[in-house]
Amino acid sequence: MQSNIYVICFLIIILTIGCQKADDFLHIIPTPEHFPAIDYPIKNKPQLEKIALGKSLFFDTRLSVDSTLSCASCHLPEYAFSDTLAVSKGVHGAVGKRNAPSLMNVAYVPLFNKDGGVTKLEIFSLLPIEDHSEMGIPAIQLVDRLSGDAHLQQTAQQLYGRPLDAFVITRSLAQFSRSLISAESHYDDFLKEGLALNDSEERGRELFFSPKTNCSKCHNGVLLTNHQFESNGTKVEYLDQGRKLISAKETDRGKFRVPSLRNVAITGPYMHDGSFDSLAEIIEHYNKGGQKHINQSEFIKPLGLSNEDKNDLIAFLHSLTDKKYIYN
Ligand code: HEC
Ligand code: HEC
Repeated sequence: MQSNIYVICFLIIILTIGCQKADDFLHIIPTPEHFPAIDYPIKNKPQLEKIALGKSLFFDTRLSVDSTLSCASCHLPEYAFSDTLAVSKGVHGAVGKRNAPSLMNVAYVPLFNKDGGVTKLEIFSLLPIEDHSEMGIPAIQLVDRLSGDAHLQQTAQQLYGRPLDAFVITRSLAQFSRSLISAESHYDDFLKEGLALNDSEERGRELFFSPKTNCSKCHNGVLLTNHQFESNGTKVEYLDQGRKLISAKETDRGKFRVPSLRNVAITGPYMHDGSFDSLAEIIEHYNKGGQKHINQSEFIKPLGLSNEDKNDLIAFLHSLTDKKYIYN
């Protein structure tokens, strides 16, 4: 009996040590208490030094063919890592097709890009690097270019036990992207501590989550997105087929991933092609009930909002801005 207790104690100790080791990385990027846990890939768990390497690569213009652009040229830190242009400009003045999204809380995104065409963040970073309309440099050429940087080489060896190559670059950039957590807005104070929103924000919040607007049928949860592909009916005809490009289904034409609305007041222009400049324009769009494209969701219908309702919804959207982050 006693030996059984020893065995159990021994197992508990081993398990506790094991658990501590497995979860050691969790304090590195503390998950906000009111956010879901982040599902980190087993082979690329957060490590401070790897995040730091990813950060330096993110701001490094050598990642574009003519050394004019870094990731941060289209994902500007002061705008929650989004772009201020409707569609981003790549190397040699190339004009892209889509609006660059905010990278804040990208750790929670299940499928990347507005059509969900990319499944892993680790693979993702090679796409803008090699894309002719973005950074336009083949990975081999980039690795060759960076191989002369003794400091980078040494860091790669220390952290990954290999020379700086596409593996190291993509792992590190993914680590940095996942570290961009934003959870300190006025709305978060409300969620966490029950601190009151002001009157207009509160009326906006109630409207947003009410069947009168249906906003929260698609924008829900702490990130204000269900991560599904939906058509909110911004076009009569969609030039960009959206989700249909991936699924090949006609019923997916004009459907795009529902974006998180966190920091939305500072991430304009809006929608997949940056065709909306302001939140007021967006509220008008929803109030009219969309352009009635055949795939438009049934939840987009004329809302009959008063001017006060519209202002309140906009006030609520402003309460989603992470003040602490911006002033940092
Ligand atoms: C020329 C502008 C430009 C540059 C440079 C650029 N991006 Fe982007 N990024 C975009 C656009 C536009 C999208 C949206 C593409 C789409 O939906 O098809 C995007 C999407 C993303 C996404 C997906 C986010 C999501 O929510 O689906 C990630 C992650 C990302 N970029 C990271 C990076 C990294 C890392 C770099 C540097 C290696 C980089 N980007 C460089 C314009 C750019
Ligand atoms: C049927 C699902 C659905 C409903 C209902 C819905 N949205 Fe959206 N919303 C979307 C989708 C999808 C997009 C992105 C469309 C695109 O990329 O072209 C979007 C985009 C937005 C954007 C722009 C975000 C950005 O970064 O570009 C805002 C703001 C927004 N919605 C607010 C609202 C509000 C307010 C309501 C309620 C009045 C609402 N939405 C109702 C699906 C929905």
